Amino acid sequence: MKRILVIGATSAIAEAVARLWAGQGHSLYLVGRDGERLQAMAADLQVRGAATAAWATLDVSRFERHASMLDAAAEALGGIDIALIAHGVLPDQKACERDADLALQALAVNALSVISLAGQLANRLELQGSGTIAVIGSVAGDRGRQSNYVYGTGKAAVATFLQGLRNRLHRRGVSVLTIKPGFVDTPMTAGLRKGALWATPASVATGIVKAIERRADVVYLPGFWRPIMLAIRMVPERVFKRLGL
Ligand SMILES: NC(=O)c1ccc[n+]([C@@H]2O[C@H](COP(=O)([O-])OP(=O)(O)OC[C@H]3O[C@@H](n4cnc5c(N)ncnc54)[C@H](OP(=O)(O)O)[C@@H]3O)[C@@H](O)[C@H]2O)c1
Repeated sequence: MKRILVIGATSAIAEAVARLWAGQGHSLYLVGRDGERLQAMAADLQVRGAATAAWATLDVSRFERHASMLDAAAEALGGIDIALIAHGVLPDQKACERDADLALQALAVNALSVISLAGQLANRLELQGSGTIAVIGSVAGDRGRQSNYVYGTGKAAVATFLQGLRNRLHRRGVSVLTIKPGFVDTPMTAGLRKGALWATPASVATGIVKAIERRADVVYLPGFWRPIMLAIRMVPERVFKRLGL
């Protein structure tokens, strides 16, 4: 039985992961903004087999509340074996270009809050000498594109931060997983046209659980995104800047 903290638990992807963990009989602590949804989710996860399912509300942009949330989670679970950080926002790129404040707000949620939470979790798990920090990033962080570079910047910052954490914690028994989904059909992408490359939250969730179990470093989900992003990263900048992506 693992003791698992899920931050951004009401996200469609996180909920699908939590359902798999509940079915395996783990203890869950759910953190999100919407208390009613968290309460309903906790009840559902217990029916699905979770050993325990507690919850707490947090707006992750309230950085000053991160430490007390982590204290409460560690106390309720009796320690943390796995922490999944899943929250995120997909800002309107054009609106961010017009208004720098909007870009900064998106970066506060997608990058700064994640850096704060993952950094504090790292210190705790390092002391403990065990555990996994798993963070949902995105293929969008692998290369800046005109259509969504504010979102991509947040994900890229987190990916680099996690590389450093992984390097620091490798000898301390703590694994750090960067999860890079491609297009996933969730409320975040409700307004986008769907196509062949789209995945479901359930299939991505299966990949996340497996990657955590094998203590992977970086996982692309579905896996076909790894060669796609390798090819995209290899395009020379003098060519890439001319593309309408
Ligand atoms: N969908 C995709 O195509 C895709 C692709 C690559 C990566 N991702 C990443 O996958 C993760 C999960 O997203 P999703 O696709 O499952 O979308 P989602 O269902 O819209 O989930 C986004 C979650 O982030 C939470 N959130 C946003 N701002 C918050 C804040 N200030 N404080 C606390 N929680 C906040 C939302 O909470 P509320 O319910 O309260 O709004 C929601 O639970 C995100 O990190 C996203 O960037 C998604």
